[in-house]
Amino acid sequence: MRILTGIQPSGQLHIGNYFGAIKPAVELQTRGDCTYFIADYHSMTSLTDAAARRQNTLDVALDWLACGLDPRKNVLFRQSDVPEVCELMWILGTLTPMGLLERAHSYKDKTAKGLSPNFGLFAYPVLMAADILLYDTNLVPVGRDQKQHVEMTRDIAIKFNHTYGETFVVPEPEIRDETAVVPGLDGQKMSKSYGNTLPIFGEEKAVRKLIMSIVMDSRTPQEPKPDADKNLAIQLLRLVAPVEVAADYENRLRAGGLGYGDLKKALFEYYWTFFAPYRAKRAELAANLDYVHDVLRDGAARARTTSADVLDRARKACGLS
Ligand code: ADP
Ligand code: TRP
Repeated sequence: MRILTGIQPSGQLHIGNYFGAIKPAVELQTRGDCTYFIADYHSMTSLTDAAARRQNTLDVALDWLACGLDPRKNVLFRQSDVPEVCELMWILGTLTPMGLLERAHSYKDKTAKGLSPNFGLFAYPVLMAADILLYDTNLVPVGRDQKQHVEMTRDIAIKFNHTYGETFVVPEPEIRDETAVVPGLDGQKMSKSYGNTLPIFGEEKAVRKLIMSIVMDSRTPQEPKPDADKNLAIQLLRLVAPVEVAADYENRLRAGGLGYGDLKKALFEYYWTFFAPYRAKRAELAANLDYVHDVLRDGAARARTTSADVLDRARKACGLS
């Protein structure tokens, strides 16, 4: 089985990325051939700072490796190191109905938020389809927000196969219910573009401040809180603390007597401890950037062995060679 996912180098990675994408991807290492890439072409639809893109790309590689991705078992590469994906994007684009792209949530959400739409943002799902189809991918682990994109990939693959003959593997998304949508510090979906994130590798002081500033309601500590399970700090605590600890805090909040300040302090402590081993590993890697560059170079070379075959198959199928 071939497993593939990508992550954009558009800012500091957050715990939504960790629980929605990195952790599942790391666990999948035992289930098949995994290919993970840093979607730097995609990041161009929202980020126009070249130095930031370069730095973010390296940071994302460090983050993946620090969080347990084993580059001997898996392929980790930078999307633009295999530029053939752009050729496949064109091929697929000629079979992609405008209506399909107009219905894309990511496009609709971003334009609604005032991002001026460019062709790249509109074509984003076609590039994503090319990413997935270029590696004969069976399974795509993603957060729920990407489900529609994987469904579009399926539609495009089916249409190509129907038009030009069986060429592409039709992939399935894999979405985990328990971490499908990690809430951000304001209760909306945690996202780099909403400025509501808890970084995986933030500075201690800054993260403590972020957590302590989570807005709660004005009920006194003594008041029972029947809606304790919906409390944002409880929801985040469930991700980073042992199950029984999170349940205990939830029960204490429900019964009354636990103040929000104490709850947030506990959340910080469990968050900090949870990521401690990854933080240590990241520091080690950051001191050896040559190794990280080697991993990416080697990853691109290995990715190409599959992409060259698949692109050749696609070109032949549609009469380009
Ligand atoms: P962002 O929304 O912060 O820009 P990306 O779109 O780059 O994040 O997402 C990278 C990966 O992380 C995707 O698989 C996405 O589904 C997952 N992801 C992002 N935010 C969350 C979240 N809040 N909860 C769960 N998964 C998420
Ligand atoms: N669109 C994804 C996101 O923002 C990133 C991505 C690009 C991706 N290409 C992909 C994810 C291919 C999975 C498969 O999260």
